[in-house]
Amino acid sequence: SVSQIFVAIDGPAGSGKSSISKAAAERLGYNYLDTGAAYRALAWWVLERGMPTADSDTIVDALPDWDYNIGVDPDNYYVAVGETDVTNAIREPRVTSVVSSVARVPKIREHVNALFRDIMRSAPQHGIIVEGRDITTVVAPDAPVRILLTASEEVRMARRSAELANEKATEVADQLRKRDAADSRVVDFMTAADGVVTVDSTTLTFDQTVDAVLDVIEQQTSRTAHG
Ligand code: CDP
Ligand code: CDP
Ligand code: CDP
Repeated sequence: SVSQIFVAIDGPAGSGKSSISKAAAERLGYNYLDTGAAYRALAWWVLERGMPTADSDTIVDALPDWDYNIGVDPDNYYVAVGETDVTNAIREPRVTSVVSSVARVPKIREHVNALFRDIMRSAPQHGIIVEGRDITTVVAPDAPVRILLTASEEVRMARRSAELANEKATEVADQLRKRDAADSRVVDFMTAADGVVTVDSTTLTFDQTVDAVLDVIEQQTSRTAHG
């Protein structure tokens, strides 16, 4: 609807996009859309179907059969493909290791971007925070609030290693760097586009980062409202 507020947040892996966006959405009573989860759900489905992840033509042809569902309520987050709840499965290393090669196909990106805009438009709350890699530049370049969430590479790697206690920290860091490098060749999420506000969370606690994001949202929306 016309009065809907879109908040676009991009950034590299481990910058805090998902957790910070979710927390900010809870505080504001907004919806929350994790676009990375969509790419992960597609990669999961490609593996499930036994399609070669490098065969982009086959994947593009099969896209109409991909029945993807995501919860936009930050308090009831889930991802499903058809009848299958894949909320946890899409985080498995086998999915993480192929997601970039699926996400780099332009026709796939166009398909999911149309899906994202449908989800944004039909979100029940009057605001929605959408996070990913190309939300500020491609999916919602006209959004009233656009944020690039960053953190130093060292801190991002440390945050991820802390989450995955069962994996070797150096291995995690290595894979993350490779994925960011591969993703960077497709969309630029390391530099802020014109009009995009950078929030650097390197030296901020989780709560301070949420507050910094909320401050930007308040500033940008009141600026828009007052012309
Ligand atoms: O949470 P994490 O940083 O590990 O990644 P994610 O946000 O779940 O995104 C998973 C993958 O989806 C990324 O590595 C990109 O390949 C792709 N992606 C994308 O291409 N464009 C987006 N807007 C979001 C994610
Ligand atoms: O979605 P993205 O990959 O950008 O990051 P995330 O999965 O939301 O955040 C990675 C981890 O960093 C989470 O465990 C967050 O709780 C943590 N984090 C933090 O410790 N301090 C911050 N200022 C931001 C995030
Ligand atoms: O439904 P509406 O005509 O407003 O726009 P849409 O193309 O379906 O996209 C929904 C929302 O996504 C728009 O209102 C914009 O905020 C955002 N969007 C954007 O910022 N830039 C685009 N090129 C397309 C959509």
